[in-house]
Amino acid sequence: MTDHYAVFGHPISHSKSPLIHTAFAEQTDQDMSYLAIEAPLGDFAGTWREFVAQGGRGANVTVPFKEEAHRLCDHISERARRAGAVNTLLLADDGTTHGDTTDGPGLVADLRRNNVRLEGARVLLLGAGGAVRGVLEPLLAERPAALFLANRTAAKASALAADFNDLGAISGGGFEAVTGQFDLVINGTSASLSGDLPPLPEALFTEGGVAYDMMYSAEPTVFMRWAEAQGARAIDGLGMLVGQAAESFLQWRGRQPDVEPVLATLRQQLG
Ligand code: ATR
Repeated sequence: MTDHYAVFGHPISHSKSPLIHTAFAEQTDQDMSYLAIEAPLGDFAGTWREFVAQGGRGANVTVPFKEEAHRLCDHISERARRAGAVNTLLLADDGTTHGDTTDGPGLVADLRRNNVRLEGARVLLLGAGGAVRGVLEPLLAERPAALFLANRTAAKASALAADFNDLGAISGGGFEAVTGQFDLVINGTSASLSGDLPPLPEALFTEGGVAYDMMYSAEPTVFMRWAEAQGARAIDGLGMLVGQAAESFLQWRGRQPDVEPVLATLRQQLG
């Protein structure tokens, strides 16, 4: 029997998840469907219940339903509890709903794929919104030497760092508080969407330093271009997108898909 999966969002037509999961299912020979469904605003729990009643086994959840999805779960992973948001729902055999967030594992997997070392690294993370909160637990689990959160609104970064300081060496503040050099600078702000560059000091990167933008687009983002001009290696977030999907897929199907061919297809389509 075919198992049904979907990504829920509003809007959702732009989603690459159906392409990614359909490719993963073909690779691993899974009898499953995966659709993009635009859910109505207001009652996401009702949307999920209806989907389950029609044979739904799991789902990805995106803007603006990640927090509502978090609230409807019967069980939740520690990293999703910390994130306050869920991007992956799984219906267990006993009918309960499990929630997880795979954005962080997707980011960590993509950094590893790009040979970026996190253990012992000095990491600067730009932003203090939902996207950053969602990746902090898995990032800190890799034991960076120091993780500094810098945000336009300094108080948000300090508060977010305080929420996670039991997990590692994390602190936060405004962009003006950024000092020293970093092995890895991750842009988790939405500034790239509007073509803005967070105000960052020169000489920010160590020798061999890496810039990672959690966003992606056909052209390198303004943050990536700035980082390259500073001598850093720049990577966009397309691999994180495929990586979070691979982690969701693994949880649903117990199979680890190969991200490389899917990433190549997406990259080609972007170009
Ligand atoms: P997301 O879910 O993408 O994280 P969010 O929770 O609204 O969305 O957070 C957006 C993040 O991008 C915030 O850190 C925001 O900074 P503020 O907290 O000061 O608002 C940051 N951001 C958005 N536009 C920016 C810009 N033009 N320059 C710098 N930071 C920006």
